[in-house]
Amino acid sequence: MLKKIPFRRIRWPGWVVLIIIGFSFVYGMAQLVDAIRCDPESEGSSPLGIDFKTESTDKDTYTMTIKAPVIEDSHINKPLKDWIKKEKKDFLKRVQENKKELGEGYRAHLIIQADSRKSTHDTYTIMFHSYQLVNDVRGKEQVKTFTLDVSEKKFVKLPDIMTTNGEMIQVIRTRLQGQPNVKMQEALKDPASWNWTLNGKALTLYFNDIEEAGPTRVEVPIHSILPYLDDKIAESLEVAKASIGVGEKYVALTFDDGPDPHVTPRILNVLNEHDVPATFFMLGSQAEKYPAVAKSVAEAGHEIGNHTDHHKDLTKIGREQMVQEILASRQKIIGATEEIPVILRPPYGAINRDVETIANDNGTSLVLWSVDSLDWKNKNAAAINSVVEKEIAPGAIILLHDVHSTTADALPTLLTTLEKEGYRFLTVSQLQSKLAAETASPFYGNMKKG
Ligand code: NI
Repeated sequence: MLKKIPFRRIRWPGWVVLIIIGFSFVYGMAQLVDAIRCDPESEGSSPLGIDFKTESTDKDTYTMTIKAPVIEDSHINKPLKDWIKKEKKDFLKRVQENKKELGEGYRAHLIIQADSRKSTHDTYTIMFHSYQLVNDVRGKEQVKTFTLDVSEKKFVKLPDIMTTNGEMIQVIRTRLQGQPNVKMQEALKDPASWNWTLNGKALTLYFNDIEEAGPTRVEVPIHSILPYLDDKIAESLEVAKASIGVGEKYVALTFDDGPDPHVTPRILNVLNEHDVPATFFMLGSQAEKYPAVAKSVAEAGHEIGNHTDHHKDLTKIGREQMVQEILASRQKIIGATEEIPVILRPPYGAINRDVETIANDNGTSLVLWSVDSLDWKNKNAAAINSVVEKEIAPGAIILLHDVHSTTADALPTLLTTLEKEGYRFLTVSQLQSKLAAETASPFYGNMKKG
């Protein structure tokens, strides 16, 4: 018999709905504020003396506020003007489509902000941030960057200043939370189209139209991409190659779906022999069934995460059952291990806003992976090792399962190989705080999915 869980009978009364709507509104406003906030560095005299001009249009059904740089050279100005024109056209089309709902106190808004930032000695980037609010709670956000080489008076695309081969793209992939979706995979294929800014600390990429929440911002610490940068560019970034921890290659191993009475102990043995910490995303139902195995994982010093109670796709079961799947599992894991799981990996990596909200409300952060070992599919030690070896990069979170004996078979070789390549191992939480410390940025808020 399952114990009755007090959360089972939750209904969502009107006030809860109101609070959720309220939060959505506040969130929308926060995005708006973010959208119109100026980069502090661009206040006053901008680098290279670019002036900006703001134009406002005020109509019955909409307003437009557009800030743009004043550039005399029409050859340089054209692509900027064309982009603004395209945004305006898109906005006015949406205004037209929503004519019925607009007017009488409710208007649509287009806000385009712009700033400039110096990248290297000879290049600077003009960054546009466009925010359209037409008929929805959340606006449509786009980021567009133009990087200009001042001495040669021409625009610079990312492939002009660095090697953008498959290996470099793999480094970018490791900075994404989870597997890139189809749109992201497409976007990753074309580095010439990427929106980017570069400084001595990081390469920051902005991908539009990947997520509904707005541009996906990916920040890559400078030391991860230094090998790919042109030497001249790297020098002008004034980055001291020696001093920034090149050679520190940390990754996190994660084991899902256990604990399992046969496989988990084998995995613990190998980890112990190599003195390597890992993270175990347990199913509540398994922890309840095998509490001693669950407890031994915690006692060996590994991090314990929540992988829900019965491994259902959370996006398909409704809010009430979602809460149940997460909280019942949490209780069972605490019961068996005496550890409170503060990270949650949703089965199949399936996430929506409800999953994010429930995770946040319960003080857990969502963790996906960047390298899928495919151990669940291949069930072959050699295949597991070749996949991981191919995909591994510093900062990677590797997905494995402590329920297949072939995964335990693969582990000794996997650890030996990665150790030889100079990789070191951390738990997921340790790795995340390390990466967060490296990529702390004064600009903009959080990474959208972080
Ligand atoms: Ni799983």
